[in-house]
Amino acid sequence: MLRGGKVGLRARHEEDLPILRAELYDDVVNSSRAESGPWRPVSPGSKDPRLSLDDTPPGSVPFSVVELEGGTLAGTAALWGIDNHNRSAHIGLGLLPSCRGKGYGTDVVAVLCHYGFVVRGLQRLQMETLSDNAAMLRSAEHNGFVREGVLRSSAWVLGEFLDEVVLGLLAQDWKQGPTV
Ligand SMILES: CC(C)(COP(=O)(O)OP(=O)(O)OC[C@H]1O[C@@H](n2cnc3c(N)ncnc32)[C@H](O)[C@@H]1OP(=O)(O)O)[C@@H](O)C(=O)NCCC(=O)NCCS
Repeated sequence: MLRGGKVGLRARHEEDLPILRAELYDDVVNSSRAESGPWRPVSPGSKDPRLSLDDTPPGSVPFSVVELEGGTLAGTAALWGIDNHNRSAHIGLGLLPSCRGKGYGTDVVAVLCHYGFVVRGLQRLQMETLSDNAAMLRSAEHNGFVREGVLRSSAWVLGEFLDEVVLGLLAQDWKQGPTV
């Protein structure tokens, strides 16, 4: 397991799946805002890659986020779109509603940076989020990500087009915290 200050990133376990499905992917508003695509209902036992136990999508490494104290599931995180030629990847995360606003998001981004830069030897990490997702923007910026551009009206979210922000962080600009 990779450890941050408050949370750890470990493999996804079978028992995580019903919780992630009920608390993240059944939530129409959260899913519509966090995924770049339309919300669809997810059946138990679905082969949806977000609920896969294997690293099925190529270039993608899924994690479950757990609280270090007690090991309770707190959400999901991933390094995806890993490009070993350009040595870049994207990061993504989603916390269960009860785990938001406690500093976990900032910590998860830190651990994903450790995984991307130290474990995988990447040079650039990128993320995209809606321009009104203040918590996500701040979680990324606290770790050194900078806003590189705005994709105007790029996301269709529940009846309206919203802007997305692209953020990037280069290995040489990353200040490693106490992640191990
Ligand atoms: C986005 C998300 C990962 C952020 O994680 P988090 O644990 O809630 O964020 P943190 O507690 O680390 O807070 C980070 C910063 O955002 C601020 N913040 C937290 N919630 C906020 C909110 N609802 N509105 C405005 N700011 C907020 C915090 O004050 C903190 O800033 P500060 O340190 O300068 O005070 C989490 O809220 C989440 O999973 N949301 C739903 C799914 C989602 O949006 N995923 C990302 C899709 S790209």
